[in-house]
Amino acid sequence: MNRSIRWGIIGTGDIAKKFAAGLSVVPDSELVAVASRTKKNADAFGELFHVAKRHESYQSLAEDRDVDVIYVSTPHNLHKENTLMCLRAGKPVLCEKPFAINAGEATEMVRLARERKIFLMEAMWTRFFPIMTKVREIIAANVIGEVRMLMADFGYRSEDQSFWVFDPKFGGGGLLDVGIYPLSFSHQIFGSPSEISSISHLHGGVDEQSAAILGYEGGRIAIIASAIRTETPQVAYLLGTKGRIYIHSPWWKPETITLSVNGKDELIQIPFQGNGYNYEVAEVARCLREGKTESDTMPLDETLSIMKTMDTIRRQWKLKYPME
Ligand SMILES: NC(=O)c1ccc[n+]([C@@H]2O[C@H](COP(=O)([O-])OP(=O)(O)OC[C@H]3O[C@@H](n4cnc5c(N)ncnc54)[C@H](OP(=O)(O)O)[C@@H]3O)[C@@H](O)[C@H]2O)c1
Repeated sequence: MNRSIRWGIIGTGDIAKKFAAGLSVVPDSELVAVASRTKKNADAFGELFHVAKRHESYQSLAEDRDVDVIYVSTPHNLHKENTLMCLRAGKPVLCEKPFAINAGEATEMVRLARERKIFLMEAMWTRFFPIMTKVREIIAANVIGEVRMLMADFGYRSEDQSFWVFDPKFGGGGLLDVGIYPLSFSHQIFGSPSEISSISHLHGGVDEQSAAILGYEGGRIAIIASAIRTETPQVAYLLGTKGRIYIHSPWWKPETITLSVNGKDELIQIPFQGNGYNYEVAEVARCLREGKTESDTMPLDETLSIMKTMDTIRRQWKLKYPME
């Protein structure tokens, strides 16, 4: 594909707007279409981001022949339905996190993409920041030795309890909304856990805050926390046998780390360009150009493993969503 990659967006909410702004600075990608449940929202979004094609149904965007790839930015409970619809129409998909409500849904999505050999990726944008590539390089070069422990958190305090994140029908709660960031990070560093121990405070059928300790082969441990009613420091640590990496707040949108080895601290900064969403856009564009159906940085097996871990954690809390 020599021309630019033509994107369509499903949903016109908060994250869709940030994503569109990020996409606008990626040279080989352009936003050509948007889909909303309503003409009003499609037109408003289209005006804001100069998008010519405005679909009044998600299905109509999925079938749009002028679109190469679709970004799904609807609430969690719709990710499976919207992604399957796009894949059935032959469209590659970048689907927002959490990829689905549970591992069963995620498995269906991955199975269809693999059967049809169509690109599919979870939009875990944190993985694609330049400083995160640096963190992975430092670990691979054994600078901090074997990573033995990981600590990371992501909690914010929302006062707006009418937001769907507080509603179990949408798959609300802190774990699926933001706990997935530290969880995804621990999966990337350590793989799948062999032991999981977690507690949460549930209110109104969703987890307002929670903490989990994950155990891995060889005694490695991850300690993670998340919340939607409590502001947390939003920092991450990787503790190795020879040193440590501290990812400064907000670690999920990172540009600064402190590398500590032999009692010496080195501050390393790699400022991100754009608003940060551009890096996942660039990754998808690269994969599509190279004919890949999965990203090596956010592979589908890892997405499935993350979903399974979230299922186990929720089982420990006896938190089941109405659609389950
Ligand atoms: N990667 C990140 O940094 C990041 C940040 C925030 C959120 N997210 C994820 O992105 C997804 C969307 O979050 P958001 O904050 O953008 O939500 P939002 O502002 O509420 O937007 C969601 C959009 O989905 C569409 N939608 C379809 N059915 C809906 C329904 N029943 N209720 C509400 N909206 C509905 C709406 O668009 P139309 O009216 O146009 O159809 C709405 O604008 C979530 O899964 C969330 O986890 C990711």
